[in-house]
Amino acid sequence: MPWIQLRLSANEETAEKYSEWLMAAGSQAVTFIDAKDTPIYEPLPGDEVVYWHNTVVMGLFDASHDMEKVISYLKGIHPDKQAMQYKLEQLEDKDWEREWMDNFHPMKFGNRLWICPSWREVPEPEAVNVMLDPGLAFGTGTHPTTALCLTWLDGLDLTDKVVVDFGCGSGILSLAALKLGAKKVIGIDIDPQALQASQENAKRNGVEDRLELYLPKDQPTLKADVVVANILAGPLRELAPTITEFVADNGLLALSGVLEEQAQGLVEIYSQWCDMDPVAVQEEWVRLSGKRH
Ligand SMILES: C[S@@+](CC[C@H](N)C(=O)[O-])C[C@H]1O[C@@H](n2cnc3c(N)ncnc32)[C@H](O)[C@@H]1O
Repeated sequence: MPWIQLRLSANEETAEKYSEWLMAAGSQAVTFIDAKDTPIYEPLPGDEVVYWHNTVVMGLFDASHDMEKVISYLKGIHPDKQAMQYKLEQLEDKDWEREWMDNFHPMKFGNRLWICPSWREVPEPEAVNVMLDPGLAFGTGTHPTTALCLTWLDGLDLTDKVVVDFGCGSGILSLAALKLGAKKVIGIDIDPQALQASQENAKRNGVEDRLELYLPKDQPTLKADVVVANILAGPLRELAPTITEFVADNGLLALSGVLEEQAQGLVEIYSQWCDMDPVAVQEEWVRLSGKRH
């Protein structure tokens, strides 16, 4: 079916409101991107969404929809209709899933590690290759927070180490750790679809016997050599005692999902348990890391 996309320029104050307006005007789906076309970091239901200063709110309408009516509806409720910036685009009738797959290519992180979409040829068969299909879960390597964690893992000697991946999503970090030599990884996620994607990706990589997966309510008590948690700043703040409890003495910890302006507050919290390193930055996101004292 052909589609029409309506793009509305917004900011962190107006994005949520515009999304509601678009849905009220009959949009089938609403997505947010920043001005550089980066998808918004997906929150959990109930979590606060992190919007950029220049967010574009995009509503998708089927091509038979009366767009003039939609525009006049929006102008009617916009407090300053002269300032309302919008753009209408006709989208070709494409297979969107196929399009996404076509745009996902093998990516290298650090010195040894490649993340390869499972439907693509492996560029360096001798390298450490993780074959991945994220399915419905977060984690392809394209998001800066995942990239920061993958690069960190690549820089460690994980041989025979036990690793906890808190918020495992597609399993991307768990599999990277296993392929880089970890003995065992414990993946934890609040979302059952993430655990399923992680399980399938583990099978795809032949490491399912070394990956244990849990919902938080079932998570075991253990001490790990390495703990990585790529979740948002809010849960990292609340779960600091739980996450650090997993880190063995002298064990290593990496945290991401944190915006630059949120870093200092988290460094102060985690310094209670760990000697923290300088933060690593990629785009507006950071990775915090440290060693348990
Ligand atoms: C940004 S994704 C990270 C996925 C993957 N680890 C990566 O680095 O790309 C965050 C994941 O954490 C999970 N998550 C969020 N809050 C959580 C919590 N309180 N406990 C466990 N998992 C959580 C989400 O379901 C999601 O799969």
